[in-house]
Order: sequence, then C-alpha cells, then structure tokens
Amino acid sequence: MPPDAPPSPHAARRLEGRVAVVTGGARGIGLSIAERFAREGAHVVVADIDEAEAHHAAAALGPQALGQRVDIAAAASVAALARAVDERHGRCDILVNNAAILDAAGIDAMSFEHYRAVLDINQDGAIRVTLALLPLIRKGGEARRILNIVSIQGVRGTRDSLAYATAKGALVNFTRALACDLGAEGIVVNALAPGFIDTRMAQLPDGSGHEHETDWFRDIYIRHGRIPLRRPGTPADIAGPAFFLCSDDARYVTGQILLVDGGVSSTF
Ligand SMILES: NC(=O)c1ccc[n+]([C@@H]2O[C@H](COP(=O)([O-])OP(=O)(O)OC[C@H]3O[C@@H](n4cnc5c(N)ncnc54)[C@H](O)[C@@H]3O)[C@@H](O)[C@H]2O)c1
Repeated sequence: MPPDAPPSPHAARRLEGRVAVVTGGARGIGLSIAERFAREGAHVVVADIDEAEAHHAAAALGPQALGQRVDIAAAASVAALARAVDERHGRCDILVNNAAILDAAGIDAMSFEHYRAVLDINQDGAIRVTLALLPLIRKGGEARRILNIVSIQGVRGTRDSLAYATAKGALVNFTRALACDLGAEGIVVNALAPGFIDTRMAQLPDGSGHEHETDWFRDIYIRHGRIPLRRPGTPADIAGPAFFLCSDDARYVTGQILLVDGGVSSTF
C-alpha cells in the first residue's frame, strides 16, 4: 500500500459523534488528522489562521465540519474559537494542538524579541487554546483527549532551531504535567513528535523545493539511513498514530510522547 493511501472506506467509525478541534487544520499534518477524524465520524472544527483555507477544508470534510479562523497567538481570537465551539456543540471531546510555524534561527540570528514571538505561537499558543477549551473539554463525553503535536526537535537538539526546539521541548513537559493534572478526571493527554514530514513547513526558505529533495537530505537521511525507513513521512503517516492517541484504544495511555519519525531518533 502506498504511504499516502487512505484507510479502507469501510473503516469503523470509531469517533462517531465526537467533537474534535484541530488547530492548524487547514493544511499539512493538521488537515490529514482532520480528514481521518471526519472519516471516523467526528464533528471536526478546522481552526486555522488562514480563514479561507479553514472554510475550504471544512467544506470538503462535509456538513458535520466547521471552519473557524483562529490566531493561537491572540487571546481574543482563541476566546472566539471557544465561543464558536460552544455555540455549535456545547462541548469538546478531542483537542489537537497542531498549529505552529517553523523557525530556523540559531543563537547568532536570535534576538530576544524574535525568540519570544516564536514562543508566543509555538509554545504559548497551544497552552492558550488548551486553557480556553478546557471548560468545554470538561463537558465532553467518555473519551476526552488532548493531543499536542510537538517535534523530534522537542526531544533532541539540532542546529538552527533554538526557539522552535525550545517551544516544542516545553510542550513535551506541558503534556506530562497536564496529564498529571487531568488524570483524575479521566482526561487523556499525550504528545506526538513527527520527524521529517513532507508538508509546506518542509519547503526550503527560498521556495525552490522541499528539504527532502535536496542532495544532502537524500545522501544523509535516505542513502546513509539516518531515516531507517528511508523516506520522509507523509501527513497520513502522522494521522494514523494521532487517531490512535485520540481513540478509545488509548484510554490507559497518558503523559506519553510518541515519536513518529521513521526511526530517526533511534539512530546516532
Ligand atoms: N512538517 C514537518 O516536518 C514537521 C516535523 C515535526 C513537527 N511538525 C509539527 O507538525 C505541526 C503541523 O506542521 P505542518 O508541517 O503541517 O505545517 P504547515 O505549515 O503545513 O501547517 C501549519 C498550519 O498551522 C496554521 N497556523 C500557523 N500559525 C497559526 C496561528 N498563529 N494560529 C492558527 N493557525 C496557525 C497554518 O495556517 C497551517 O495551516 C506543527 O506543530 C509542526 O511544528 C512538523
């Protein structure tokens, strides 16, 4: 089966009727998660700073989906998202904190203001959305889930990713601490750390193509096996494990960081 192949159309609708909010759901990994959840019967709220794409994605998912503009860096916008979810559904069963931006600045290119601006989106954004939606999650059904999309850069160090890696690392431990706080209520909190995934985020800064198409990427990551599975991932490679962590099957899995990276983090 090709890596992008959707699951069988006969898949059991294992999220039937559940309300799922996916930030950054208009494209890339978030869109693939939104599509998978919708196929499993969830009412998906596609929440994205790109309003037109959020509406476009929701329309493609069907009448159960809602497109909603949100800027996770802006408190008023996040409050408006919570109001929209409340008005439409009155509860939230699943929150996927996926929205983020790439930042490829190392220490010498970093001002404190730049660092804070990246953290405001990539770190505080997820925490802001979680706090705003928690009252609605508390009104959710039996299988309430919070899933934070982090990165292997949140558990390993790399060059030129100071603010990005710091933010993702903070969300790793936010996940563990939140799982401890919400465990008594039966709310499951996990993180998923993708490796190299073929999305717009992986485009080269000059727009000339994708990182995985460069000679150095092919040489190091594919030919020399720095990615043991010998290919970059697709959004669908992430959507499956994300679905698992938000499904009934993950009911006794909490505070965990699942690395979905083709094995990158297992090599040295
Ligand atoms: N692509 C990769 O290789 C990779 C690797 C590790 C982790 N990740 C993580 O996966 C997640 C999704 O990444 P992607 O590759 O799909 O990226 P992407 O750039 O394709 O999509 C990100 C989405 O987030 C939205 N967004 C950006 N800023 C926002 C804001 N302030 N408020 C609301 N929405 C906003 C964008 O409009 C876009 O739809 C991110 O958290 C990213 O850090 C990606």
